[in-house]
Amino acid sequence: MKEELTRKFEERFHTAPVVYASAGRINLIGEHTDYNGGFVFPGAIDKVIMAAVAPNGTDRVRVFSVDINDYVEFGLDEADAPAQQWARYIFGVCREILKRGFTVKGFDAVFAGNIPLGAGLSSSAALESCFAFALNDMFNNNAIDKFELARIGQCTEHNYCGVNCGIMDQFASVMGKEGKLIRLDCRSMDYEYYPFAPEDYELVLLDSRVKHELVDSPYNKRRESCERVAARLGIDTLRDATMPMLNAIRSDISAEDYFRAKFVIEEKDRVLAVCDALNAGDYETVGRMMYETHRGLSQDYEVSCEELDFLNDVARDCGVTGSRIMGGGFGGCTINLVKKSLVDDFVKTAKDRFKEKYGHEPNVYPVVISDGARCVSR
Ligand code: GLA
Repeated sequence: MKEELTRKFEERFHTAPVVYASAGRINLIGEHTDYNGGFVFPGAIDKVIMAAVAPNGTDRVRVFSVDINDYVEFGLDEADAPAQQWARYIFGVCREILKRGFTVKGFDAVFAGNIPLGAGLSSSAALESCFAFALNDMFNNNAIDKFELARIGQCTEHNYCGVNCGIMDQFASVMGKEGKLIRLDCRSMDYEYYPFAPEDYELVLLDSRVKHELVDSPYNKRRESCERVAARLGIDTLRDATMPMLNAIRSDISAEDYFRAKFVIEEKDRVLAVCDALNAGDYETVGRMMYETHRGLSQDYEVSCEELDFLNDVARDCGVTGSRIMGGGFGGCTINLVKKSLVDDFVKTAKDRFKEKYGHEPNVYPVVISDGARCVSR
């Protein structure tokens, strides 16, 4: 991809670029906990957005997206974001860097990626992180620290894309390390790398290839429920909530808000249980927690869908150790912790049964935990 991007860049802009990349992510456990000040357990994967970039000596940004075959130009002091969604991510990153008093000058870029879109693997976070990293390297001598690069991506989602997401995706995309998952405390932002290379198990992603575009931004609505309950409890985030606290206000809140908060309270404890289990090499417990997360996401948080519940059932039928919906929900992938000896059977059964029911096979991605944002030219 690097050579192809460099060639395309040189054909279009007639100078030599520097090439940067940032990664998509998986998350072992800890879903919808990031914006509640809880724990998450993501890692970067070997699927990336890559961009060839060079300053152009003007105050304009000129970007070509290879995958969409589309070109956008905007001025750095223009008030309005471009109409194309993909370009808004880049526009937002520029604005967020400038807002923080750092430098962005005019540049040219050509980018492409191999992160499946809509699969819940955070292609948008990878795009933001790739450009944030590139512009930090190119114009700021890397003066912006990596946490802030992740925040720049997150604020781009909030301020230019209408998604009030947490920090997990951008954090994993920027901070990922080969072979390591990261346990992140989203309140203190303390984090720890966990080697993840179980001898007898593999992580397998099954991409349902469905994405339910729902009106009313259901993601933001989940977040609002959590914030309402926290406010009612008089605490900053649900990180500080317990089930007895929640049960004490049950009659004052809607049933919907109650179940949303219940999921979050249970999920933050599951992340810690999974850490202990990993330390003890107890993958059966890790897997059990994953199934519990799926149940909670499906029934209490209501971010699953028929196809993902079906894939979860198939995993259970095949004796898969752990399985759950991954990411924000409403489509995308399940993440499965599978005994190596079962992988082939499971994948075949899941493909056959899914195709029989929904008319197409799920895509299968083996998980390779890899590095996050980086310069690939040097
Ligand atoms: C999306 C968001 C993340 C996180 C997950 C759910 O991926 O971008 O911040 O909330 O959903 O865990």
